Amino acid sequence: MAEIKCIGILTSGGDAPGMNAAIRAVTRAAIYNGLSVVGIKRGYYGLVYNDMEPFTSKSVSNIIQQGGTILKTARCKEFATVDGRRQAYDNMRAAGIDALVVIGGDGSLTGARIFAEEYDIPIVGLPGTIDNDLGGTDQTIGYDTALNTIIEAVDKIRDTATSHERLFFVEVMGHMAGDLALNSAIASGAEAAIIPEMETEIDQLGDLVKRGFRKSKNSAIVLVAENPTTGGALGLAQRVKEEFPEYDARVTILGHLQRGGSPTAADRILASRMGVEAITALREGQRNVMIGIKNGELVYVPFVKATTHVRTVDHQGVDIVKILSI
Ligand code: F6P
Repeated sequence: MAEIKCIGILTSGGDAPGMNAAIRAVTRAAIYNGLSVVGIKRGYYGLVYNDMEPFTSKSVSNIIQQGGTILKTARCKEFATVDGRRQAYDNMRAAGIDALVVIGGDGSLTGARIFAEEYDIPIVGLPGTIDNDLGGTDQTIGYDTALNTIIEAVDKIRDTATSHERLFFVEVMGHMAGDLALNSAIASGAEAAIIPEMETEIDQLGDLVKRGFRKSKNSAIVLVAENPTTGGALGLAQRVKEEFPEYDARVTILGHLQRGGSPTAADRILASRMGVEAITALREGQRNVMIGIKNGELVYVPFVKATTHVRTVDHQGVDIVKILSI
């Protein structure tokens, strides 16, 4: 196996708080170990269109506390093509890059897997997404901050929901994963969470009404995971209008504010641990794995497992919301 002397680093897909902390950790751990680092701009675009710059320790100063990503990010269509990846490979080699660290979610790590298979390049991934939807890891970088952002917003919505005695559907992101909705429901004391994983099991809105939350409460907050198939929170509000007109329902879609903000301590620590581990992994000859965390321990997760796992319902979480909202 060729010796690794220079590492390219990129962030790709939706940004997540803690990506900067991860960029900092990867860069400094690489330099600490005598490697050079190249920062690649706008995800895979930077590889395809040759937009990269050498990184020093100073390049990543004063960023651990910043949301977003100093490298910028994008979803690159060209990289999904054979020609685009060939161009990316040629540019990468011309820049002297021997290995990559890719920070991103599902789509970004799938791209990394295909690229690594085609060109036999050592790549290590870090799970950077607020969605917490990757296999083999208990947590992704950005998820904890997004949860905190959501509960701060829900606490405020609760004031007006209570005053007006209304039913509120608060829609959160998740990319067809219900973790953000379910766990922010637990953390904000919401009356229910409506999540895609439960879709085929039960009519979640019907169940909420049947449970008769109105008997004990005059208002309710329901956390809804975005879902283009059902129309998410707007779809539910429409159903309430038609099927349960006795409820005064309102919708708040939190949108991209969930992706911003200074990362929490938990995300900064996770990103720092994973970033340092990415360099250890590459130096040890690991390739085509994502760094994950299981029961507090860092683990290596093959890209295929990280990106193709089947989501299951967190019944324990669903029960907790139910039990605690009586
Ligand atoms: O994957 C992160 C995410 O924020 C998802 O939760 C959401 O569905 C999607 O990205 C939104 O993407 P965009 O910023 O391209 O609209």
